Amino acid sequence: MLASGLEALRLTLHVLSASIWVGGQFVLAGLVGPSRSLSPEAPRALARAFGRLAWPAYAVLVVTGFWNVSTFHWAGQSFAWKAVLIVKIVVVAAAGLGAFFHGRATARTAIAVWGSVAGLASVAALVLGVLLAG
Ligand code: HEM
Repeated sequence: MLASGLEALRLTLHVLSASIWVGGQFVLAGLVGPSRSLSPEAPRALARAFGRLAWPAYAVLVVTGFWNVSTFHWAGQSFAWKAVLIVKIVVVAAAGLGAFFHGRATARTAIAVWGSVAGLASVAALVLGVLLAG
């Protein structure tokens, strides 16, 4: 059966934002090193430009995520589905906090640790989302 118009809008916004938030982190990670040969300021400029796309995408993910949840009947869902949803919400919060502290860190170790937290938690959120979609 085809998705209804509203369902298509909800899932398109959710998946498009996931592709920006998660895929963008991989693209940025790949561009930062080579961009240093253009200018020492280039990595910072790229990161700032990505932030202007990524944070709105994160906000859309959270809003459409709760919209997704509202379309399910809580009592009708399995214990496993509910557990995955709760883990997913924790992981999404970890991704946001990781990205926030990554952007504010100045020490190399802190930048690497928070960047890894953001990246790993974002991929985990994506996998858990696929599991929830069934
Ligand atoms: C970093 C943030 C997030 C990412 C990367 C993400 C990613 C995804 C992906 C890839 C899907 C599968 C879509 C499909 O195959 O149709 C999905 C589905 C889902 N997500 Fe998220 N998501 C995020 C945030 C959230 C939040 C905050 C919630 C809940 C509050 C949420 C709840 C759901 C639900 C319930 C589904 C199943 C939708 C359905 O089948 O109708 N997501 N998510």
